[in-house]
Amino acid sequence: MLLNPLLTATLVLPLLSLAKQHPLPLSTDYASSFEAAQENAPHIFNALHSSMRQWGSSLKHNGLSFFPASIPADTYLYHGTHDNKPETGMEWLAFEIEHAEAFARAWGPPPKRPGKPPPGDGPRRNELRDEERIANHFGPPENSGKPGYLHIYQTTRKLSKILYIDGMSAGKTKLGTLDSTDMVLRNKTGNDPPWGEYERAEELCELGTKWDIEGFIRLEAGFELILCNFTNGLEFKSARRRPKQDPNQFEYMRAVAARYQGITAGRVEVDYSSMVSAFFYPINLTNPNPKRAELPRLVSSEVGGVRHIQEDLEIVLESSQRFSNERIDWQGVVDMIVTRYSDRLQYMVLETTTQEEIQATVSTLLSLYVDFDDPKIPLANTICTYHYLNSTQPTTSADHLIHSAIATVSEKICSTLFEVRRLIEEESPAVETAKLEMKDLIAYLDWSTWLECGKCAYDEVCYVAVWPWGTIEDHFHPSCKNSSLDFGRDRQSYWGSY
Ligand SMILES: *[C@@H]1O[C@H](CO)[C@@H](O)[C@H](O)[C@H]1NC(C)=O
Ligand SMILES: *[C@@H]1O[C@H](CO)[C@@H](O)[C@H](O)[C@H]1NC(C)=O
Ligand SMILES: *[C@@H]1O[C@H](CO)[C@@H](O)[C@H](O)[C@H]1NC(C)=O
Ligand SMILES: *[C@@H]1O[C@H](CO)[C@@H](O)[C@H](O)[C@H]1NC(C)=O
Ligand SMILES: *[C@@H]1O[C@H](CO)[C@@H](O)[C@H](O)[C@H]1NC(C)=O
Repeated sequence: MLLNPLLTATLVLPLLSLAKQHPLPLSTDYASSFEAAQENAPHIFNALHSSMRQWGSSLKHNGLSFFPASIPADTYLYHGTHDNKPETGMEWLAFEIEHAEAFARAWGPPPKRPGKPPPGDGPRRNELRDEERIANHFGPPENSGKPGYLHIYQTTRKLSKILYIDGMSAGKTKLGTLDSTDMVLRNKTGNDPPWGEYERAEELCELGTKWDIEGFIRLEAGFELILCNFTNGLEFKSARRRPKQDPNQFEYMRAVAARYQGITAGRVEVDYSSMVSAFFYPINLTNPNPKRAELPRLVSSEVGGVRHIQEDLEIVLESSQRFSNERIDWQGVVDMIVTRYSDRLQYMVLETTTQEEIQATVSTLLSLYVDFDDPKIPLANTICTYHYLNSTQPTTSADHLIHSAIATVSEKICSTLFEVRRLIEEESPAVETAKLEMKDLIAYLDWSTWLECGKCAYDEVCYVAVWPWGTIEDHFHPSCKNSSLDFGRDRQSYWGSY
């Protein structure tokens, strides 16, 4: 459904620019399209809003988008392990100290699991990595290790060939957090066991060799980097022995919460103009679990569609503008829209909000777009729709698709509010109808801002389910919690649920 002529006007551009980027013949059945971008507009909008933010990425944990990214020179990155020898090959790095501290232990033999061989020299490392993670996050006390070392590394140059996999992409779950990695990057079915982290990372780095990617940014309780070659672009600074006592998990959660709104200090720069998202494609993103319809998945997608995403991603990485300054700060555009409407929409639908209050708020929001000498609402609606978009100059295929998605969302906001304005200014104002219209809009937008806790007390953190922690309640109703919180098994029920 096309919403207005301006949306149609941009329709032909991306296909042309994609054709220009792509010399090879591609089956067009599953090619990215404006129709798909408009259909999935709120998902695209929210993916941009949540990009490199722990908050929205925890709630909308099935990310289906990829972004080329870079990490500036001189950035500190942290690594926790059992010994003090500098890493040389592929390994994990955390952006937060507390995250790496959790791994800075000497692990005992992994707990026996049926069908698993005892750890030997070869696969041992492989298993240790998984067991480390299990032990670290899910660990029964007997599995707790002796203190290890916290390594600090510093980038010696800009790591400019990084691929950011959005959502809770390091969450080892069957909910769909691994769909984009395992299905698009690893050719898996999406129904494989979520573990096998070492193998996953090795395969990603093999692909990296082909696609010219030096590392992968993912998210769990904290952002992390799988870096494919520690001796290239990284300097080992120190490795210091950890104390006897285990790191404090409440303080780890505090560190996680400190990145809800972003990674800070420009430590990761994202090339939004080279976004490759499953939401751009005419494929079936329905979650086969009807209880989680709000979470998109790739498991119902047509194989040809997934292939198409894969091929486009390869092309984008080859020809991406990841080194140019011309990319558009799409997250900034989305932020401008969210900050203007987010609180006000919720305010207007409160039971206690009166007709006069809605009128005043809507007037604040819309009067800019109306010429009161000649109030033409369709024109005002168009001006409203493009207000935050007209400062952008789309160039890449992704730019055009994103532009179209944001315009779709923006048009929905503007047209709903103009309708509310009409309802509220009628002779007998239809306040309840107006509120229902806005509630529909709120459901359509599904912004993660509406689940924020607000400022918690100093002895509390705003607690949302972040893999591997969180109950079902924590996911659907995040709230401020103090350090009496139990971080044991009971706090992990969400991710193994459904
Ligand atoms: C996935 O499949 C494609 C097409 O068959 C192939 O080119 C690619 O190398 C495969 N990737 C991996 C990681 O196996
Ligand atoms: C890692 O990078 C170093 C320095 O550029 C290089 O000598 C080495 O061959 C690389 N290792 C691998 C496995 O590519
Ligand atoms: C999309 O996938 C869902 C879940 O697997 C399935 O029920 C539905 O029929 C599919 N839709 C189409 C159009 O194939
Ligand atoms: C915004 O962009 C649209 C579509 O490109 C254009 O038609 C319109 O005139 C612009 N509006 C303003 C206020 O600049
Ligand atoms: C922490 O929160 C719990 C549950 O709200 C409360 O019962 C307890 O008194 C609080 N503890 C501290 C130390 O404030």
